[in-house]
Amino acid sequence: MSAAADTKAITPPDIRARKSKVPLVCLTAYTTPMAKLVDRHCDVVLVGDSVGMVLHGLPSTLGVTLDMMIMHGKAVRRGLERALLVVDMPFGSYEEGPEQAFRNAARLMAETDCAAVKLEGGESMAATIRFLTGRGIPVMAHVGLTPQAVNMFGGYRVQGRGEDADRIRREAVTVADAGAFSVVLEKVPEHLARQITAEIAIPTIGIGASPACDGQILVIDDMLGLFSAFRPKFVKRYADLGDQAEAAIAAYADEVRKRRFPAAEHVFADIPQAESVKGGEAA
Ligand code: KIV
Repeated sequence: MSAAADTKAITPPDIRARKSKVPLVCLTAYTTPMAKLVDRHCDVVLVGDSVGMVLHGLPSTLGVTLDMMIMHGKAVRRGLERALLVVDMPFGSYEEGPEQAFRNAARLMAETDCAAVKLEGGESMAATIRFLTGRGIPVMAHVGLTPQAVNMFGGYRVQGRGEDADRIRREAVTVADAGAFSVVLEKVPEHLARQITAEIAIPTIGIGASPACDGQILVIDDMLGLFSAFRPKFVKRYADLGDQAEAAIAAYADEVRKRRFPAAEHVFADIPQAESVKGGEAA
């Protein structure tokens, strides 16, 4: 599907049907203005629980709540017309069992109008994925490095190296068999990503998982250079907006201190100089 050309809203079955075709383009977004920017270029927009680290300054995704996901999900929904909106289920909102997962996923869908949810985990999540998909909730799965389990992994380490490869392969096969419409593969070696992508019938969406996947996803603030607390090897920076923003802020601070801002064009006269209304505001 080419960017911009098609204005029909993309659905989970559309994504499922993109297996082995033109790579799926996916990004995270957390706000309405960013959603508007990514909509025409992306197939999937994920409100990731990475929002906790990227926008809220949390040390991991573990402190993210359902209410935070709902607030950011609603904001992103307002900015999208075309891309598929997927919202992450945060830590603690689905792991107890299928009923808990259904209750919270249904709330996410009802309140944000997202078309699908994403949850982390392989074999331990098979029953939950089956339960949700059997009741009208499309699920994007997430295996490999699953950041909500960072304490089990002892850090954000590459998963599936050497003898561990079969564990990740089985997880991907299991979530596909359970009914997920796509699966995120995070931080796994290229040969494993290629093997999984060839073996399962649903699209694999890689993040640090090589070009062998059916699509790619990045955290928007990482690729725009707006988030620098971590700089994983798999992130390519397409812009340095953080540096540009800091230079702009420094220029503003300098001009305020030197009384160069505001200049004449930013100041209101006592008596309006023109009758016309510019930009919704009397000149
Ligand atoms: O939370 C997130 O942003 C994610 C993506 C990086 C896949 O899960």
